[in-house]
Amino acid sequence: MPDNIVLIGFMGSGKTTVGKILAASLGWPFLDTDAMIEEDAGLSIKEIFARYGEQYFRELEQAAVARAAASRRAVIATGGGAVLSGVNVQRLREGNKVVWLQVGLETALQRAGVTGDRPLLQGRRREEVAELIKHREPYYAFADVYVETDGKDAAAVAGEIKEALKSWLASLK
Ligand code: S3P
Repeated sequence: MPDNIVLIGFMGSGKTTVGKILAASLGWPFLDTDAMIEEDAGLSIKEIFARYGEQYFRELEQAAVARAAASRRAVIATGGGAVLSGVNVQRLREGNKVVWLQVGLETALQRAGVTGDRPLLQGRRREEVAELIKHREPYYAFADVYVETDGKDAAAVAGEIKEALKSWLASLK
C-alpha cells in the first residue's frame, strides 16, 4: 500500500507550507508536484504557462502526479488544478488519504494573489476568482478529510490533519 497523505485544494490553501510541516512532524518525505514539474522542465510554472500554455502544463502535471503517487508514506502537495483530471484523481486516491485544505476567497487572494506566480490568478478580478473557487469545489469533494484553513496558521492545520488521521496513522505498520 502506498499510504501517502495527499493534500488538495485551491491556490493559497497552504498545501505546500502545511505539507512541509506535516511531513517533518511525521518523519516522512515531502513531495510537491509543482516543484517536480519545475525541476523536470527547468522552468517556473509561470514560464511553462507563458511559453507552452496550460494544456502542456497539465501534461507535465499528469506525469508528476503519477510519479508522486508511486511513492510510499510521503506527504504529497498537489497543484490546485491537479484534480481536474480523472486520471490524476484515481492515482491520488488509490491506497492514500486525501485531505482537502479549504480556503475562502479573501484568504486565497491574500496568500496566493499577491505573489504573481499563479498564471491562473493573473489579471483576474475578485469575482472571477470567486467563480473559479466555486467551479473547483466539486472537484475537491472526493477527499477523505476536509480541513478549513481560514484564520489558521500552517502548524495548526498540520496538527488538525494529524488528529483527523490519528487512527489511520496508528494502524500503519
Ligand atoms: C494551479 C495551481 C498552482 C499551479 C498552477 C495551476 C491551478 O498550484 O499548479 O499555477 O490550476 O489551480 P498551487 O495550488 O500550489 O498554487
